[in-house]
Amino acid sequence: MSDTAKNIKHVSSPLARQTLLDDDLTRPVAGRRPIRLLPWLQVVKIGGRSIMDRGRDAILPVVEELRKLLPEHRLLILTGAGVRARHLYGVGLDLGLPVGSLAPLAASEAGQNGHILASLLAPEGVSYVEHPTIATQLAIHLSAARAVVGSAFPPYHHHEFPTSRIPPHRADTGAFLLADALGAAGLTIVEDVDGVYTADPKGPGGEQAQLLRETSVAELAKHVGPLPFDRALLEVMATARHLERVQLVNGLAPGRLTAALRGEHVGTIVHTGARPA
Ligand SMILES: Nc1ncnc2c1ncn2[C@@H]1O[C@H](COP(=O)(O)OP(=O)(O)OP(=O)(O)O)[C@@H](O)[C@H]1O
Ligand SMILES: [Mg+2]
Repeated sequence: MSDTAKNIKHVSSPLARQTLLDDDLTRPVAGRRPIRLLPWLQVVKIGGRSIMDRGRDAILPVVEELRKLLPEHRLLILTGAGVRARHLYGVGLDLGLPVGSLAPLAASEAGQNGHILASLLAPEGVSYVEHPTIATQLAIHLSAARAVVGSAFPPYHHHEFPTSRIPPHRADTGAFLLADALGAAGLTIVEDVDGVYTADPKGPGGEQAQLLRETSVAELAKHVGPLPFDRALLEVMATARHLERVQLVNGLAPGRLTAALRGEHVGTIVHTGARPA
């Protein structure tokens, strides 16, 4: 036997001899619940269109509420893209740009809103951090400060699925994927409506729309018509590992965000597909 052959080490792996394409084979190894990386974290998604685009009248009270929450919670604040992304989609689609080119451009708009919010919270030690930092250094940042701000867009960018010409994975999906992957304590989505309604309360016939105080991802999957979040959010909520619920609250109503983070039911609670631990 040659020296080289003697030195070969066999690295044992429970998946070594299996195809990763057969769920029955991988389930015993890969089917277990992942650990919670940051179980004390509260994730807050601030609407781009519903809050940030309204300017100071909407933003400053939300900033004040976030500021007061800092002693109580450690926060990952994620911002949506808002109207500038809508304009960008319009121009890009007119020029025939593929969805994978539009996604990073829209994501940069979400980042701009994050920079605005972080600037206003800077006196409290809050900064904007890029995705790679969120992925690998969130714990150290949140040891140094009570909150950080990031873009809520997921980084699919040129890998965005071509199912639609408008990126299907936007800020709500990104915020949920992060919160669930981190095993956060909660995700609160902040918008300009009291919750999810049976129809758009600001659309034609909106006065007939009824507020759904509590609903589930399975019920919403059957819902026909618009929702106040990305449709793809329903897909990722259905397969959630940790977050059992998400609450959507009205950020224009003072105190709702604070109450939601304290565990009160002040908006629409959506139950996900995650099983209780
Ligand atoms: N079923 C529904 N229930 C409640 N609001 C709805 C519903 N359908 C549509 N809407 C509308 O969605 C609006 C919010 O829009 P949208 O979700 O695009 O904003 P946003 O979350 O702030 O944007 P972004 O994704 O850029 O962060 C609400 O003001 C409301 O008029
Ligand atoms: Mg929304």
